[in-house]
Amino acid sequence: MIISFVWAEDSKHVIGKDGKLPWKLPNDMKRFKDVTTGHPIVMGRKTYESFPNGPLPNRLNIVLSRNRDYQVPDGVVLLADKSQLCDYVNPDDEVMVIGGSTIFEMFKDDVDKLYLTKIDYDFGGDTFMTAIDYSKFDLIEKKEGVMDDKNIYPYTFETLQRHN
Ligand SMILES: NC(=O)c1ccc[n+]([C@@H]2O[C@H](COP(=O)([O-])OP(=O)(O)OC[C@H]3O[C@@H](n4cnc5c(N)ncnc54)[C@H](OP(=O)(O)O)[C@@H]3O)[C@@H](O)[C@H]2O)c1
Repeated sequence: MIISFVWAEDSKHVIGKDGKLPWKLPNDMKRFKDVTTGHPIVMGRKTYESFPNGPLPNRLNIVLSRNRDYQVPDGVVLLADKSQLCDYVNPDDEVMVIGGSTIFEMFKDDVDKLYLTKIDYDFGGDTFMTAIDYSKFDLIEKKEGVMDDKNIYPYTFETLQRHN
């Protein structure tokens, strides 16, 4: 299995504030949907609870929690340990780890590919991206984000691949 990270961070590596995203950036939501749809997504219980409409459609939602009694709807997989992941995904799947920071930290030595949105703005927040050793990755794609009246912050989409 390939493990990928998908996230957006601000100029100070902030990814979250008060259990939510600190920004509204619809073009990044669209990129997130495009990148993750059709793939298993792996997330922490807090990120799962941050979704306003429950599990994300057209993707296997896998939630990590130490609470084995945590209730999830049918179709959502609850895991207490990342070692159980291979029981639920195919060997040729690209598994999309979507946060939060505790889950990025858990997979940082396993991750092969990074889909990163850099937002050039300082929002302030309480949750930060885990440190990544970027010297082990090559930038394979970079795209300036389009700004408009609904996407008011400068941002860039980057894709990085771990080199051998
Ligand atoms: N900008 C972005 O791209 C992005 C992406 C994702 C999230 N976020 C933001 O980040 C914040 C949430 O991130 P977070 O780091 O606070 O929380 P999180 O990683 O989403 O969830 C933390 C929870 O995951 C479970 N967990 C953690 N380590 C575990 C382990 N080793 N084994 C089993 N379960 C484990 C625990 O659940 P239990 O307490 O139930 O045991 C823990 O409380 C929110 O503000 C969210 O909006 C931003």
